[in-house]
Amino acid sequence: MSRPRARSPKSTTTTAPSPVVSRSGRFESGPASDVASFSESISFDWRLWRQDIRGSIAHASMLAHIGILTATERNAICKGLESIASEIEAGSFPWNPALEDVHMNIEAELTRRVPAGAKLHTGRSRNDQVALDVRLWVRDEIAALDQELAQLQRALVGLGRRSADVLLPGYTHLQRGQPVSFAHHCLAYVEMIDRDRGRFSDAADRANVCPLGSGALAGSTLPLDRDFVATQLGFVDSRGRPRITQNSMDAVSDRDFVIEFAASAALLAVHLSRLAEDVILWATSEFNFIRIADAYTTGSSLMPQKKNPDVAELTRGKSGRVIGNLMALLTLLKGLPMTYNRDLQEDKERLFDTADTVRACSRLMAAMLDHTTVKAESCRAAAQDPLLLATDLADYLVRKGLPFRQAHHAVGAAVALAETSRRSLDSLTLEDLRTTSDLYEADVASVFDLTAAMNRRNLVGAPGTREVELQLRRWEKHLVPSTK
Ligand code: ARG
Repeated sequence: MSRPRARSPKSTTTTAPSPVVSRSGRFESGPASDVASFSESISFDWRLWRQDIRGSIAHASMLAHIGILTATERNAICKGLESIASEIEAGSFPWNPALEDVHMNIEAELTRRVPAGAKLHTGRSRNDQVALDVRLWVRDEIAALDQELAQLQRALVGLGRRSADVLLPGYTHLQRGQPVSFAHHCLAYVEMIDRDRGRFSDAADRANVCPLGSGALAGSTLPLDRDFVATQLGFVDSRGRPRITQNSMDAVSDRDFVIEFAASAALLAVHLSRLAEDVILWATSEFNFIRIADAYTTGSSLMPQKKNPDVAELTRGKSGRVIGNLMALLTLLKGLPMTYNRDLQEDKERLFDTADTVRACSRLMAAMLDHTTVKAESCRAAAQDPLLLATDLADYLVRKGLPFRQAHHAVGAAVALAETSRRSLDSLTLEDLRTTSDLYEADVASVFDLTAAMNRRNLVGAPGTREVELQLRRWEKHLVPSTK
């Protein structure tokens, strides 16, 4: 989604409240200026303008449908809202901080231009209005983020494809374990990101229920057609049937869907952080497995030789704020009595920051991976370490009939022998090996053939040559960008 060109309202100085959307006859004065600047949200919730206008158009259409607005009034309101939308888009809309939030700003300006605007808030409260806007926003955001995540998956698959024949050590405890292909390592992250996409899609499904018609907290005495609004706004199930909230009190105070979004984002951020950590390690002189293009690194102001993986480091670092936002949102909700409380206004900055952060991290990581090359030679050198095949050697003994525990022990003894005699495991003679188990025969040499070793790993999900190729093809097919 392109960032709206709308200017955010910079100033929070208060001016006289607009007479068209007055605070009500109840108040003799407006809020004190420091109260107004303390409680305004227009400086950040202006970002809900598209959703607010979409919601208002649907609400006005429904009011006309049930006879509360005439067709002429509805048309005037819709035209007014559309012209406001173009002005916001163009950056020329006169946001007024004195009008507190995005809902009041748009409604006040509409009413100033179109007298029928005064009827728009019929049967509606800002409480169900904001609940609606945020649901729509989360839904839109998840759709946009999903594209970004698919792109990140493509970048990982692409990197795997470009290095399909490169082997490197797989690690546990950050100690060399067993050989894997570079592509297999990349595809591990593709799986993680895919589960993230699934979680976001589940979150979108639960957000996809229309709260409008819940009013301030107790619905309305007017015969609002909730199904009509829901259908207009696409709050429908897979068969096109409207989905509307079933309890007005829950509907205006529920922010579960924001938290689900933030929780899915926190886990995504953790996955991105782990990927970033691998990239950072791989780019060190110690590992030396990859080269990140200059454009995705920075230098040091002092040390001329430095090339720092800042995109990956910042992605790792920014996971902190995404996790923090989730904590802030959970804490925000936990003590709230039913129903709407103004505390809920605090959800937006956490939500927006979370969305912006994970989107930027996903995009930048994808771009960085697209501009990363694998240093095949140093990967190969590391993957040649014969100790990576110690487990294969134990499997060899198992094939000769030895129980695995004993095989493990015997190979451990062979590794110790290699170490004390300062030789590599694969240069021990048959006689040497036979001092640890008499099951060794001349065919043991084939264990240390790395190509053959990778061909033996042919279980589903294993890093075998054929298996990884199948997985790469599966993802390449699955991730073809849709043309619609
Ligand atoms: N700006 C408010 C928010 O984000 C909108 C709802 C205000 N409702 C109210 N009763 N003051 O929560």
